[in-house]
Amino acid sequence: MKFTLRSLSILIAFLSFQTAFAGEGMWLPHLLKALNEGDMQSMGMKMTAEDIYSVNKGSLKDAIVHFGGFCTSEIISDKGLLLTNHHCGYGQIQSHTTLENNYIQDGFWAKTMKDELPNPGLTATFIVRIDDVTDSILKGINEGMDEKKRQSTIDKNLEAYKAAAKLGQYEDIVIRPFFKGNQYFSFVTMTYKDVRLVGTPPESIGKFGADTDNWVWPRHTGDFALFRIYAGKDNLPADYSPDNVPFTPKHFLPISLDGVAKDDFTLVFGFPGRTNEYLPSYAIEQTVDVLNPAKIAIRDKALKIVDAEMRADPQVKIQYASKFARIANYWKKWIGESQGIKATDGVGKKQRFEKEFTSRLTKNQVKGKKKGNAQTKYGDLLQQFETLYKDIEPYALSRDYFNEVVYRNVELLRTANYMTRLVKMYENNGDTGYNNYKGRLEGYLTGFYKDYQPRIDKKVFAALMEMYQGGVPISAVSAPVGALLAQRDIDGYEGIANHIYDNTILTKLDGTMRVLGMSPAEAVEKLKADPAYQFITKLTDAYHENAELQYNEIDEKLSVLQRKYMKAQMDLFPNRTFYPDANSTMRVTYGQVQGYEARDAVMYKPVTYLEGVMQKYVPGDYEFDVNPKLIELYEQKDYGQYADNGKMPVCFIGTNHTTGGNSGSPAIDAYGNLIGLNFDRAWEGTMSDINYDPSICRNIMVDVRYILFIVDKYAGASHLIDEMKLVHPKRK
Ligand code: ARG
Ligand code: GLU
Repeated sequence: MKFTLRSLSILIAFLSFQTAFAGEGMWLPHLLKALNEGDMQSMGMKMTAEDIYSVNKGSLKDAIVHFGGFCTSEIISDKGLLLTNHHCGYGQIQSHTTLENNYIQDGFWAKTMKDELPNPGLTATFIVRIDDVTDSILKGINEGMDEKKRQSTIDKNLEAYKAAAKLGQYEDIVIRPFFKGNQYFSFVTMTYKDVRLVGTPPESIGKFGADTDNWVWPRHTGDFALFRIYAGKDNLPADYSPDNVPFTPKHFLPISLDGVAKDDFTLVFGFPGRTNEYLPSYAIEQTVDVLNPAKIAIRDKALKIVDAEMRADPQVKIQYASKFARIANYWKKWIGESQGIKATDGVGKKQRFEKEFTSRLTKNQVKGKKKGNAQTKYGDLLQQFETLYKDIEPYALSRDYFNEVVYRNVELLRTANYMTRLVKMYENNGDTGYNNYKGRLEGYLTGFYKDYQPRIDKKVFAALMEMYQGGVPISAVSAPVGALLAQRDIDGYEGIANHIYDNTILTKLDGTMRVLGMSPAEAVEKLKADPAYQFITKLTDAYHENAELQYNEIDEKLSVLQRKYMKAQMDLFPNRTFYPDANSTMRVTYGQVQGYEARDAVMYKPVTYLEGVMQKYVPGDYEFDVNPKLIELYEQKDYGQYADNGKMPVCFIGTNHTTGGNSGSPAIDAYGNLIGLNFDRAWEGTMSDINYDPSICRNIMVDVRYILFIVDKYAGASHLIDEMKLVHPKRK
């Protein structure tokens, strides 16, 4: 029989109604034994589920650390050495960087533990145990119950469960809904607060290819950085102190020097942030056709302005590097996501699934009727979705505009918004409320102004206000912009920018601090008279009254519907193993080292080498410059024990299902050794958060041998290598 790619992918789409595909899925570690162990072993894994997750003995999970709550990291020595991505530590690296000590440009390597750099606010969280608490949390809940009553019952149950939980010293408990609120799991955690920077390669290695190569395979980035967890003398969490000692872990990952080959088993362990794999087709259409394009256009505008300034001034480059990367990252991801959904007919795939869903539903209802218990509870779910998604569209679009402009791209508006909260604290809780919040704001403000250029922000403001006025679909939401435009003394969007930026106190640290130094009553009066404050207040109120309230009301209905739809899918497809959407909780995903066919006649191999770095090398370029020391090592082929048949491997890809938050996740071999460091996904598969397609979705990892080579041969930090445990699992 002859298969075309198309008939094959229809077959795959059909099969995936039945079973989750090898590669797809973000699984809960404590359920691997029941759901995945057999599958994993048949793919080549030599471990048991108990080796991965155990509450009785040290297991892989004890080496996996939630880094700052936004990335993953792993312990690689018995002295608490922590490996994560360069881009995860970028904020910290940037904060230690000055023109004199340019760690972004030159890298940083602590010679001794004394030289490791503290990072106030940075946390490292371990998972002590995970439990199914569904019965306790859903006690007293029944189908058809009023939603308000349901929520208040759940809230009470959550409180009661947490109050009764027996926690050890420094332990916390979080309980999270799964499967849209059909199940609940609890996570007992332990958070360390003294996490120091140990080493980072220069940006020309750690961010090689920068935004041009971001989200793209073939890749040649050494995206890693090293930190260390410090603890009190009792090995328990402690605030930063020079007396703290390196943390001793329950488990750390040995590192394999044997590398990877096509088809090797890979396991990626970490904290994926958010996926939406069970959306109805209407939601996906809206994302692709309406919401993504608006967000992409806003960021596109802002990024072009900032990029030009960064290229022109090295000081600006340092100040804006981390902020720019954050905005650019999702800008590009949304472009890839929309393209990928179109290319793989993601909407059509969902529609076909919905047809099958409806047909099963109808059959079930008929069967139910015969038995005298007609199952009408899922009745017209899909029609309700269609109506609600139509209803929510203008509010959802307004919301994206507001969030992108106010919270993400115009820096002054974000800061002014904090000031409105400060005033609210004063109005609700008097001097005490004010002083508490002010105390919390001070750290933010110092950090903010250190990297702030009002001149650049003003340009972004003028450009984005024009987009806001033109793009927000509800005129009452953008009315405050219109009102300023209509003022006789204001000329166009630049006029608005001049009016606000030239008269506000909030563009400078000393101006802001002077006001915050006054008595609370005086400060509040001054703030209320400030043009930036007045503008953000009007903008927020207009958005709140004309879009946010309406959005929330419909969104609540959608959440109820999502919960029912999830349950219906699980009921009607009993042979399929479901995995819950990512929600920043600990997950395991597994797959194999595999290339893919990116487009017609273009096959990608799964491994890149240092040769590829040299092929991309553009001397002096902002993104593709190569460090002379690295060139020298390349020319001498000085790769030591890290070489693979005389070549230096750099990155590889696999079929592991990952998302944002999985950055810094370890790639682990069949035996439990570290083989790589996850940091990205390949372009054609960036839609995997909504529509996972096994034929093209690939995660990108740095080969751990490249990391060791950079630490050892490039940086000369062999004392760090000595701390690690290097193994040869393939040499038998
Ligand atoms: N795309 C990867 C991730 O989502 C890496 C991002 C690094 N940032 C950048 N702008 N190059 O985090
Ligand atoms: N770079 C992403 C992160 O920061 C991981 C890549 C992805 O989204 O898959 O978590």
